[in-house]
Amino acid sequence: MNTRVLTGITTSGTPHLGNFAGAIRPAIAASARSDVDAFFFLADYHALIKCDDPGRISRSRLEIAATWIAAGLDTENVTFYRQSDIPEIPELCWMLTCVTAKGLMNRAHAYKAAVDQNLARQEEPDDGITMGLFSYPVLMAADILMFKAHKVPVGRDQIQHLEMARDIAQRFNHLYGNGREYFVLPEVQIDDEVATLPGLDGRKMSKSYDNTIPLFEGGAKATRDAVMRIVTDSRKPGEPKDARDTPLLTIYRAFSSSDESAEFRSQLEQGMGWGEAKNRLCDRIEHDIAPMRDLYHRLMSRPDQIEDILQAGAEKARRLSGPFMRQLREAVGLGVDRGARAAASASAGKPGGRRARFVSFRDDDGAFRFRLIGADGQDVLLSLPFENPKLAGAAMRRLQAEPLDSLVTEHDAVAIIAIDGKPVSRFDAADRARVLAALADLGDK
Ligand code: TRP
Repeated sequence: MNTRVLTGITTSGTPHLGNFAGAIRPAIAASARSDVDAFFFLADYHALIKCDDPGRISRSRLEIAATWIAAGLDTENVTFYRQSDIPEIPELCWMLTCVTAKGLMNRAHAYKAAVDQNLARQEEPDDGITMGLFSYPVLMAADILMFKAHKVPVGRDQIQHLEMARDIAQRFNHLYGNGREYFVLPEVQIDDEVATLPGLDGRKMSKSYDNTIPLFEGGAKATRDAVMRIVTDSRKPGEPKDARDTPLLTIYRAFSSSDESAEFRSQLEQGMGWGEAKNRLCDRIEHDIAPMRDLYHRLMSRPDQIEDILQAGAEKARRLSGPFMRQLREAVGLGVDRGARAAASASAGKPGGRRARFVSFRDDDGAFRFRLIGADGQDVLLSLPFENPKLAGAAMRRLQAEPLDSLVTEHDAVAIIAIDGKPVSRFDAADRARVLAALADLGDK
C-alpha cells in the first residue's frame, strides 16, 4: 500500500520565497513519488483562528492555491482541496472534541504561550483567547485522522499537535473501536534536509519578522527590490567577503547546484561586490521562478479555474470522507437507523413490542429511499430511489394497505414489487417469503 502523506497550509498570508524553498517545492517533489498518495489542503478554517479580515482570508486562499498549482503541483495525481469544502471535517472535529481531555489542550504550546503573554502583562490568563485557539489541535487532528494519513510533514512547531492527534485517535479507537482501529495513528515527518531561508536581515525568513522576499506577488520587480535590500556589511568591491555570514549565499544555494554555489562563494571570497552578488542571485532565482510566476498571474486572473480545480479536489476527498464519516456516526450511535434497529430488535417478540416498519432516508446521490425492517430489527428490503420524499411516502402507504401477493412478480430469481406497474423494489426471489411476512407484519394493516 502507498504511504499517505497529508499536510495543510493555513490561508492567512501570501507565500514568500522561504515558503517556496522550505515547504512548497519539497512537498511537490515528494508528491510526485509513485509510492506516495499526497493530500494537500488549504486550512481555511484554521485561518479564521488567527484572522478576522474576510478580504484577507479569501485573497490568501486564492493566492496559496494559485501558488501551489503554478509551482507544479499535479492536481490530477494528488488530492488538493480546501478544508471548508469538506463538511465532514468539522463534524469529525466535534466527535473528537467530545473525547479529548481538556487537560491535554491546556498543555498545548500555542495556548500556553498566549496565557504566558497575558500573565506577563498582568492580564487575566485567558484574556483574548478564543475557543478556536484553544481547540486548534482538535481541528488539526480531524484534518489528519479523516484521511487516515500515515505521514504528516510539518515544521518543528507542529510536533506536539501530531502527538495530540495520536492521543485523540487512540482514545477514540479505545472507546468506540470494539477491537477495530477506526483511525490510523499518524507520524510526524520533519525534513531536516530542506532549506530554511534567511530573510533580509539574516534571521529566518518569516512574515512575523517582516524580512521576507516575495515569491510571485508584485512581479519580478518586487523580488528584485527585496533582494537588493538584503543586509550586507560595508566591504567594498574588491575586498574579500566572509561568505559564511551572508544570507546571499544561503539563498543562492537553495536555487543552484553545489558546484554553482561553491563558485558563487569563492567569487565572494575573492572580492565580488555585494551589488554584483545581488544581481547574480536575482538572475538565479528568476531562472526558476519566472515561468511559474507567469502561470501564477494567469491563474490569479481566472479565479474560476482555480475554483474548478478545488471543487474537483473536494469531490475526490469527499469520496473518502463521506463513507468514513458514516462509519464513524454509526460507531458513536448516530448512525442513520442503528438506534431504530436496536430498539426494534430489543422489543421484537415482546407482547406489544414493535412490529416490522419502514425507515426512509436520503441516499448518497440525494435520492429518497426507504428500507423495510423486520420485527427482529434486520433489514428486509431496500426500495429503489424516488425523486422526492412524497413519492417514497406514497409507495410505503400503498405497500402497507394493499394485498401484497398481487404486487410481486418474479423474473429469473429476481422478485419485483411494483405499484401501478412501476417497480418500487427488487430483491432476491429466495427472500420472497421473508419479505411478504415482514410486509404483513407492518402496523395499521
Ligand atoms: N497547523 C498547521 C500549521 O500551522 C497547518 C495545518 C492545519 C496542518 N491542519 C493541518 C498541517 C493538518 C498538517 C496537517 O502549519
